[in-house]
Amino acid sequence: MKRILITGATGNVGTAVIHSLCALDKTSEIIAAVRKPERAKSRFSLFPNVQYRRFDFEDPRSFQAAFADIDTLFLLRPPQISDVETYFRPLLQAAKEQGIEKIVFLSVQGAEKSTVIPHNKIERLIQSMHIAYIFVRPSYFMQNLTTTLRPEIIHHRTITLPSGKAKFNWIDVENIGEASAVLINSFDQFRNQALEITGTENRSFGEVAELMSQVIQTDIKFTSINPIRFYLRKKKEGLESGFALVMTILHFLPRLQKEPAISGNFQQLTGKSPTTLSVFLKREKEKLIPSPTDSKL
Ligand SMILES: NC(=O)c1ccc[n+]([C@@H]2O[C@H](COP(=O)([O-])OP(=O)(O)OC[C@H]3O[C@@H](n4cnc5c(N)ncnc54)[C@H](OP(=O)(O)O)[C@@H]3O)[C@@H](O)[C@H]2O)c1
Repeated sequence: MKRILITGATGNVGTAVIHSLCALDKTSEIIAAVRKPERAKSRFSLFPNVQYRRFDFEDPRSFQAAFADIDTLFLLRPPQISDVETYFRPLLQAAKEQGIEKIVFLSVQGAEKSTVIPHNKIERLIQSMHIAYIFVRPSYFMQNLTTTLRPEIIHHRTITLPSGKAKFNWIDVENIGEASAVLINSFDQFRNQALEITGTENRSFGEVAELMSQVIQTDIKFTSINPIRFYLRKKKEGLESGFALVMTILHFLPRLQKEPAISGNFQQLTGKSPTTLSVFLKREKEKLIPSPTDSKL
């Protein structure tokens, strides 16, 4: 039986990958690599066949047992971990020593063009270690609106980013899960390839704020901010420096680049069309308005 280990299993993408993989692959053992197995079990209660192993990116002593007898590793970079040499080199060495032969790595669209971002360094590290890989390079997550950007949206009805009029390509994380599940399942067909996974819409934050305002019937205002001020603001809010920097680069860099390319990979892999922003916003509408459990800011 094949064993597939999913890192970041409790996060946006990891959860979506597990859901899609459980539906697609009934024969492999699907194992969630998590810091707290007991807590994670409640998250996947609808998937009783999912197994759990303790795994901590920041604790190399957890690698050997987590990687034992694994065929395919779905690897992602948790947002707060940016130091590739400290965390990913030992991890990849341990994966190789334990005989892991296939890695599906969650990268980012355009990773090949920017040597400063950690995803680029991780991609190159995997290649240099001669482990067979697939790089999944998704565009900008629609779910950023309902996670990292949500507090400002619900409490202030604003979105403040250093993105100006830059257009982003918007992808639903559920679609990334569906595409990744196909890639894990048909690894040999896509071995050593990098695939962009995008939606069909390139929209600026101003346009998305307008669309959101219509869907939730509340005026949401977008303001563009100087990137240095944005970085300092995120630090002041308590974000770790590396994370604040990646967030700044992610939202500023598109101003200096061409509009993102739109790829047909999602449709080719799954036979479906990607979620549109309008469908996403209607589906997630409840998350964009304050709930009684939201604290006041
Ligand atoms: N946001 C975007 O638009 C975008 C676009 C393209 C690519 N990406 C990339 O996608 C990745 C983030 O994916 P995501 O949104 O799914 O992340 P996420 O929702 O923040 O989830 C992070 C996951 O990593 C786990 N984790 C964090 N620290 C850990 C540690 N020390 N040991 C073990 N597990 C740990 C978390 O587990 P716990 O439950 O234990 O915290 C959680 O399961 C990043 O590399 C980002 O650059 C993002």
